Amino acid sequence: MIIVNFKTYETAVGENAVALAKIHEMVAEETGAPIAVAVNALDLAAVLKAVRIPVFVQSIDVAGFGSCTGSIVPELVKKMGAVGTLLNHSEKRLGENLAKSVAAAKAAGLQIVLCAEDDDEAAKFAAEFEPDFVAVEPPELIGGDISVTSANPAVIEDSVKKVGAIPLLVGAGVKNGEDVKTALKLGAKGVLLASGITKAENPAAVLRDLAAGLN
Ligand code: G3P
Repeated sequence: MIIVNFKTYETAVGENAVALAKIHEMVAEETGAPIAVAVNALDLAAVLKAVRIPVFVQSIDVAGFGSCTGSIVPELVKKMGAVGTLLNHSEKRLGENLAKSVAAAKAAGLQIVLCAEDDDEAAKFAAEFEPDFVAVEPPELIGGDISVTSANPAVIEDSVKKVGAIPLLVGAGVKNGEDVKTALKLGAKGVLLASGITKAENPAAVLRDLAAGLN
């Protein structure tokens, strides 16, 4: 599983989000690799209209239809056709709202990719919330050039041991097929990445290389 988080990179929002999502779809069809995208809520409608690969939103709010001005409503996200949501990304930590956010996403029928900063948090979240995926991403490596798979393989191995049956994704600095291969060898089920794609001159080529790493 490869999930690319578009964050708010200029190359990956607005019209660029649609174009980039189409590239993901093209490579997914070409390679047969399970590739999904996580887009800004502002781009959800346009991306969902443009592609058939799984689309996640980057976060949701604890909100419902009605009196919730400005909120990202989980039920609406589901109704629009998104498959799920990232939750608690280190750039969008939910703090005391985490439990309520998980409950809201589950109630709406959204898959949850619950982000954790280390193996202890991954273990806690897996046990407490039973999300669809736990994604472990050491914050100090996010957006950097060194992949978590080489900088801190221990956090992956430890997380795999601690999350039990919940599939583990790993992220931070993941850039190429070798990183994906290493992640899987260490026991992860896939990767979550951003800048390796959003800053790439040729995202399709990078995606093909990442997809090859799954084999
Ligand atoms: O959600 C993915 C992310 O935080 C990792 O970012 O740029 O290190 O791939 P990046």
